[in-house]
Order: sequence, then C-alpha cells, then structure tokens
Amino acid sequence: MQHVTRLRKARGRSKSDAILHESPPLHSIISESESCAISHDFPLGLTGCAIRAIVAANYSHGNADRQIAMKHVYATVSAIDRYGPWVWITIYETEITHQLAPGRFVMADLDGLPRYPIFPARVTPDTFDVLVQSDHPAACLDEGASLDLIGPMGRGFRYDESDRRWLLIASNRFLSPALGLLQQASDADVSTALLLTAPTATELYPIRWLPPSVEVHVSTFDGSGGFPSSSLDLFRRLVGWADRVFVVTDRHQHISLAQQVTQARIAPSHDFAQALVVPTMICAAGFCQGCAVSVADGVKLACTDGPVFDLLELASIAR
Ligand code: FES
Repeated sequence: MQHVTRLRKARGRSKSDAILHESPPLHSIISESESCAISHDFPLGLTGCAIRAIVAANYSHGNADRQIAMKHVYATVSAIDRYGPWVWITIYETEITHQLAPGRFVMADLDGLPRYPIFPARVTPDTFDVLVQSDHPAACLDEGASLDLIGPMGRGFRYDESDRRWLLIASNRFLSPALGLLQQASDADVSTALLLTAPTATELYPIRWLPPSVEVHVSTFDGSGGFPSSSLDLFRRLVGWADRVFVVTDRHQHISLAQQVTQARIAPSHDFAQALVVPTMICAAGFCQGCAVSVADGVKLACTDGPVFDLLELASIAR
C-alpha cells in the first residue's frame, strides 16, 4: 500500500507533465518519444510513453472537433475508507470537480499505463468520492498521496427536469457511477428504484449504505439473496413504471435488457434507456480509436461520444 505514495513523492513531475504545461508543437513532442521502443501492446505500435506524449499534446492544444476542454491537475487523496471488499476514496481537487456529473469521468495515473477512468460517486464543491473494489488499482492509494488526473471527460447521463421516476440497474463493478446517479436523483427529488445485482449475496453492496429514499431490489446470479427470480423479470416489471432507465452493468447484459425495454414500452423515446459502456481506454481523447463501440449507424468512441449511450442504439446492431 505504501509504495504508491513513495513512488509519487520520489518521482516528481515527469517529462510528459512538463509537456502538458509548456504545450510545444506535436512534432517535437513525438520526437521526444523517439527513444521509446515500439511495442505491440498498444494501438499503432506505440509505447506507453509515446501515447502519453501525443495525448498530452492534444489535451494541451485542445481538439476543436470534439470540443475537449479538459485539464491536467494534481489532486490529493484526502481520505480512504475500507469496508470489506469496498474502498471509498475521497479526492480533494478544485479545478475540475465542479464539472463532474454522473457518467463523466477523469483519467487517473495509477503508476501504470494505460490511465484508468474513475467515476465519481459523490461530488462536493472541492472533493469527489470514488467507490472501487479492493482489486481495483486505485484501491492501493494511500491517504495524502498526490494523484495525477486528466479530465473531466465524456458525456454523462442525460435526463429531463420533468423526469419523476428513475430506474437504475447496477452491478458491483459500476457502483460508483450508479451512486452518482442516486445522488443526482436525491438532489432533484426524483423517485428512484435501484435493481442491485451481484454474483452472490456475500458480494452485495450493503443496502444500509444506500440513500434511504431509494427503493432497493436485490438480485443475485446464484439465487443466494434477493429476488427469487432473474433480474430480467424484475427489470421488465420496473421498466413500465419508469420515466428513465439507466443501465450500469456489465456489457453482456445490454442486449437482454434492451429486449425487456422494447417488450415493456411501446416506441420508447431516444435516451429513454441509457447504458454506460467502459471499454479499455488508452488516450481517452478520441485519437487511438481503441474504445470504439458499435452502434446502430456505425461506430462511436466511448471516451468522447460516450461513455453513456442510448441502450436501444447499442443493442440494435445485434438484432
Ligand atoms: S480511448 Fe483512445 S479514442 Fe477513446
């Protein structure tokens, strides 16, 4: 646990950090990376340091087409709370936190490549909390550590002020953005039903930690806890009640959930049901094409067009 903090204190600011602040032309940045060996582990055969330099250049200079307006900042881990397999990380940061919203994210340098997208679960004016499981690289952070972030990124969840009822289906891996939605629902006084899924009862997120205003339904894959039928049955029942549906689960569930939506609703509107898609992201700025997601009319990028997509648009390609 201590090594991350020690590394950060010893490392200081890297060459790519300097690039970000000085913003030299892209060709000079690429030549800075010529000493990097070619690797087949990354798209285009570029090594991590070359990708980092190119991405840094584009973050610095901006990308007018995609209207990227992100910053490179150093935040501080102000608190870590561990409860069994769950780790709450509170991050103190004042430049980009106010632009975070459910479904948006920051890319965190956790002493490795690629950077990891982290999604806020709770946002205050100068801090945001992230919930991860103990096997996530961010779980190794220590209190007081400096955290290198780029963001904010992505298009978050969309909703109307007229929405009165939200349905969320969430699995353990994506609980942080799901909790962000629950905070938003609470702030907007929206009635919310949460369908919480987990492999087994022992792996469920503790319900007592959820906002008391949320109606919680539980479903486990092995039947050891919660609703005595599949989560799909329960989901279909709840879809008819909702003004908006948010799917924050593993991707393999998207098609079957989309089928439940089309069975329960006649001609649902665009973005009635939305799903978070988080493939591996290398640049997170629309350049490496590594996060391509197939949609009804072609291909979109999770990092810039998403990571929140219309669920039916995602699922239509499989029909
Ligand atoms: S992560 Fe590179 S284009 Fe999305």
